Formats: sequence, structure tokens, C-alpha cells
Amino acid sequence: MKVGYIQFNPVFGNKEHNLSQIIRLIRNHADAELLVLPELCTTGYFFTEQAELQNMAEYVPSGSSVKLLEKVAAETDTYLVAGFCEKVSENEFYNSAILLGPEGFIDVYRKIHLFNTEKNFFTPGKGPIQVYAVKDVKIGIIVCFDWAFPELTRILALKGAEIICHPANLVLPFAQKTMLARSIENRVFTITANRIGTEKKGDKELTFTGLSQITSPGMELLSHSSKDEEECRVVDIDPSLARNKWITKKNHIFQDRRTDLYKALLQS
Ligand code: ACM
Repeated sequence: MKVGYIQFNPVFGNKEHNLSQIIRLIRNHADAELLVLPELCTTGYFFTEQAELQNMAEYVPSGSSVKLLEKVAAETDTYLVAGFCEKVSENEFYNSAILLGPEGFIDVYRKIHLFNTEKNFFTPGKGPIQVYAVKDVKIGIIVCFDWAFPELTRILALKGAEIICHPANLVLPFAQKTMLARSIENRVFTITANRIGTEKKGDKELTFTGLSQITSPGMELLSHSSKDEEECRVVDIDPSLARNKWITKKNHIFQDRRTDLYKALLQS
């Protein structure tokens, strides 16, 4: 299966520009069967006022960005996972990732673990945590800071996810290494699509770390990008490798779990 990511520099508040970049880059990588785009890739990241969300957020699946992405997915015969700003009412917003394919809209994942000032504007996703069939391959979606909560990727892997799609706007330097751990401990592929560039609001500024990557169930880095260039990569993977959960002849990462000793994980 040909899978990849798009790393680019969205401009805050300029959906028209961002969507034209996104569509250009998807068309340039139309050989991919599955492409992951960054978190909030249609709007940019650094929301500081509720009015910005009210202006830019979109309903699903009727939003204009969703409709445009549906068209390009059909035209290129590609499945897309793309971060965007979702509204469910005039005052309820989610940091979401849409999944759509050649057949159109499939579903939306709402980021569960909000990062820093995102908590001022977004509602945390309420689940369910679920996997989706893309052709005959199962994928799961997490968004950016969800990387710091291994439970989420574990549940997706237990539900059969072979590829974890990870739209991101990373500002801390930890996730790329952590996603290698998520790969080996769950024996899954991961695709982190991070953005590049800097967003300034008043005296505050955020620089995004690039270094998008694809990792394998054997903890290999199959592809990785620079920290500051627009780059898209597509690699050919065998998703069935993620069905083998044995690390040694005697160690199966799911069967060896000691769930009888893990009850503390479910206490607040
Ligand atoms: C992040 O979750 N955007 C760091």
C-alpha cells in the first residue's frame, strides 16, 4: 500500500491559500493510496480569540473545505486524513481530523487530549475510539498531542489498527521519538504529518518542528523530512506486517499484557 504525508506551511486564517497548497500537493502525490495532512491544515493553528473559530470553523460534512477535499480525493483516488477546525454549533468547536476517500466523507475524529491554550477554545473529543477500513487495511487516527497518551494508540492497535495516522502541529521536540515507541510497543505503522513554519500573534510565537515521518512495526524510520521545508513522502508498505504481534518467539505484545495488574490505569 502506498502511504504518505504532506508537510507544508499553512498560513493562519487564509483557507483559500491553504486549500490551494493542499490540493496542489495532493495532486502531485496522486500515486498515494492514503495521505495524511497536518493538524488544522486548512486554517493554521494559533487561535487566540473565539471569533476566529466562529469565522473559520466548518460543519461536517457540509463545510466548503470538506467538499473540496472530497472532490480531490475522488479525482486522485486517494484516502485523506486531514486536520481541520470543526464546529458543531456556534459555540462548540473541535480540533478534528476528517477521514475521506474516493467515495466521499467517511468520518471525523475529534482530538481527545488538547494541548496548552487549545483548552481555551476547543472541546475535547468524546470518542468513540474506533478504527476504519481503508481498502482492506485498518487505520486509526490520533491528533498531535494525543501522542503523549499511549493508551489511545494501544486501544486503536487492540481494535486492529495497522496504521496510525497522526496529523500534527508539533512544537515540542518529543513526539517523533515517541511515535517510534508507539510503533514497536503496538507493532503498527505510524504516519506523522507535521507542519512547518512560525505563527505570530502579538508578542507570542509558535514554531512548528517539521520532521514528519513514517515508522514501521519494527521501529524503523521508513521516511522522514526536514524541519523547515515543504516535503511530501510516499512509501510502499506491507500493512500485514502489523498483524504480527510477536516480538520474540515467546513474546506477543498483546497476549503478554498483565491486565490483572493494570487496574490503576483506569483510576483518576
Ligand atoms: C499540539 O498538540 N498541537 C502540540
